[in-house]
Amino acid sequence: MSNIHDKVIVITGASSGIGEATAQELASKGAKLVLAARREDRLKQLQDAIQASGGQAIFKVTDVTSRQQMEELAAYALKEYGKIDVLINNAGIMPQAFLAENKVDEWDQMIDVNIKGVLYAIAAIVPSMRERKSGQVINLSSVAGHNIYPGGTVYCGTKFAVKAISEGLRQEEAMNGTNIRVTNISPGAVSSELLETTTDPAMKAGLEDFYQVAIDADRIAHAIAFAIEQPSDVAINEMIIRPTVQVG
Ligand SMILES: NC(=O)c1ccc[n+]([C@@H]2O[C@H](COP(=O)([O-])OP(=O)(O)OC[C@H]3O[C@@H](n4cnc5c(N)ncnc54)[C@H](OP(=O)(O)O)[C@@H]3O)[C@@H](O)[C@H]2O)c1
Repeated sequence: MSNIHDKVIVITGASSGIGEATAQELASKGAKLVLAARREDRLKQLQDAIQASGGQAIFKVTDVTSRQQMEELAAYALKEYGKIDVLINNAGIMPQAFLAENKVDEWDQMIDVNIKGVLYAIAAIVPSMRERKSGQVINLSSVAGHNIYPGGTVYCGTKFAVKAISEGLRQEEAMNGTNIRVTNISPGAVSSELLETTTDPAMKAGLEDFYQVAIDADRIAHAIAFAIEQPSDVAINEMIIRPTVQVG
């Protein structure tokens, strides 16, 4: 039986794209999903689809920028399922623009969702993993967490931060013998709703051009399943997953 079967898995940003595809993949392998995002209708649709295929899922409307809502999500998952085996920090936004555009509100939003959201989830969920001496945290960084390019400066900064948080968490948990595995996933161009968060028209047109080579979100879902499936003494720490034809 798969090492995913019966695991309780919390996914942030489960209402579309990579989060939604990952929920479907893991549910098909017998996981118990806890779906989180802001759009209730999309979470309900996904829960219905998973349940119609014989899978298990509950959901809670959650804004990852709220510490309190993240605590409530953790409490809900623990109340319903009694434990959390895997946290997938997937919620993210990518409103790209050149720094000279001074889109300071968008910088704030990216920092709040992409960095603080990840930290709030770690704060809310990892303590229960430490107590059980078992768990896994999977963070969605990006190729933008490895490369910097004009127009992507703040987004890249947030994804470099996710990579740093993953590696720091990995070292600290290994040092303390908590058996918590940490996986940093860095996708290249993937079809999803992410480009909709870019408001600058010229930047968006350039991204749409770049994203013509994008791969389907279920490709990333397969990689996430692979990282979870490994025996508990094996941690897949880093994965970079690009479309074969993506250059940068
Ligand atoms: N697509 C790519 O090419 C690509 C490449 C590298 C990395 N990534 C990363 O992969 C992750 C998933 O992105 P995606 O491509 O699947 O994009 P997506 O389809 O736009 O999904 C993003 C998800 O994040 C959620 N979200 C946004 N703000 C939130 C908030 N404040 N609180 C809770 N949830 C929030 C959205 O749900 P609601 O709006 O319902 O809240 C949505 O479910 C992101 O971290 C992204 O940076 C994507």
